Amino acid sequence: MVKPLALCIIGHPIGHSLSPLMHEVAAKANGYKEDEFRYEKYDVPPLELAAFMSKFREWGMNGMNITVPHKVAVMEFLDAISPDAKVIGAVNTVARQNDGRLTGHNTDGYGFLTSITENAGTDPAGKKVLIYGAGGAARAAVPALIEAGAANVVIANRTLAKAEELIARLDRAWPLATIAFEDAESVIKSVKGADIIVNTTSVGMTGADETRELPGAGDIREGQLVVDIVYKPLETPLLKKARAAGAKTLDGLWMLIHQGARAFEIWTGMKFPVPEIRRALEAELDE
Ligand code: ATR
Repeated sequence: MVKPLALCIIGHPIGHSLSPLMHEVAAKANGYKEDEFRYEKYDVPPLELAAFMSKFREWGMNGMNITVPHKVAVMEFLDAISPDAKVIGAVNTVARQNDGRLTGHNTDGYGFLTSITENAGTDPAGKKVLIYGAGGAARAAVPALIEAGAANVVIANRTLAKAEELIARLDRAWPLATIAFEDAESVIKSVKGADIIVNTTSVGMTGADETRELPGAGDIREGQLVVDIVYKPLETPLLKKARAAGAKTLDGLWMLIHQGARAFEIWTGMKFPVPEIRRALEAELDE
């Protein structure tokens, strides 16, 4: 017997989220009947977040996922924040405890790291990493890489101030550096010297070849691992280029799956059927 579970995801916009499908497949595989598991989608504009969070408490739902643009704003409506979410400064998963208190977690760093270790078979320990971008995804990826023992992480961003802000928020002296895209020569040098290259920007999402907007993308070579957090298209122009150059590639769907797996585990104590979920999501993306 499983305990009935009511979950949801909030964001704005929310239309294309793959999370409901992912968690429904997981619930079914773990023995939940249709009337025992609910995972709703709510489009919540920023100005309605406070009212929504009151309703969420009233309804007594068990948990939620949070996506753009609420990952930071939601924190003030919670009763406790987990250490992972504190380091990242954002919450993507909320769990309601038995006493009704709401705890905020962040499973993005776990998802990112697990995709690299399990799906690319690469241990970041001692590796040099170049990250494109300094938004929400970079905020989760950078601490995860450093905590996994990366030798250093260089953050290259179009807007230098945003990369510097990201570093300033981290409260430890970590082996980090920042470069502006404008300083293309330095970015290219870092790309050439990196073992792992990660795109956390939205470049590539349209499927059109925008790789010229990522300095050094043309210098990727065999022996490097290239990770894209974009999963639509599954093989982004950057990954296509990397594959053609002989580099190892890892798509963003794996990170999405593993962050979901960790959230599901927080809510239920149960595991994701990862291969089955990957198949379901690929089929959905193909449509
Ligand atoms: P989120 O928090 O959802 O990740 P974000 O804070 O807007 O969104 O971050 C998006 C990242 O993609 C940023 O690093 C952004 O660069 P800027 O900080 O310069 O805005 C990057 N990005 C988006 N479009 C880009 C483009 N066309 N070329 C280069 N970088 C881009």
